[in-house]
Amino acid sequence: MPASLGLNPVLDVGLTRVLFSWTLRSIAPCGACHGAYGVKAGAPLLAGQKAGYLDAQLRAFATDARTNDINAQMRGIAKNMRSEEMADVSRWYGSASSMH
Ligand code: HEC
Repeated sequence: MPASLGLNPVLDVGLTRVLFSWTLRSIAPCGACHGAYGVKAGAPLLAGQKAGYLDAQLRAFATDARTNDINAQMRGIAKNMRSEEMADVSRWYGSASSMH
């Protein structure tokens, strides 16, 4: 296993976060519902959406400005995320191609 996936180091952080980083804080990894590359049936497509839009949605869920998520599943997640984590995952999904 190479130390790097050969991606931009900033984006490697994002990939790691969407796959693993919240399990210790009881937050389901984004990839479980949205897919590691932001394409998965049953959850909104994140791949290729603008990073700024994704980041704004996470902050809106965290502050209850957006409340249309059934059972508050995104609000519960976003409230437990740190600011830089929201930015990292937003950059990651914003850079992902919707062709995956
Ligand atoms: C348990 C499943 C689940 C997990 C885990 C999850 N999401 Fe979601 N997410 C959803 C669902 C379902 C919606 C649609 C909610 C709605 O209708 O507003 C959503 C909506 C979103 C949206 C809004 C998309 C849009 O087009 O407006 C963003 C951004 C998002 N999720 C990011 C994330 C990130 C980042 C993570 C990881 C930190 C994550 N989600 C983890 C299920 C999940």
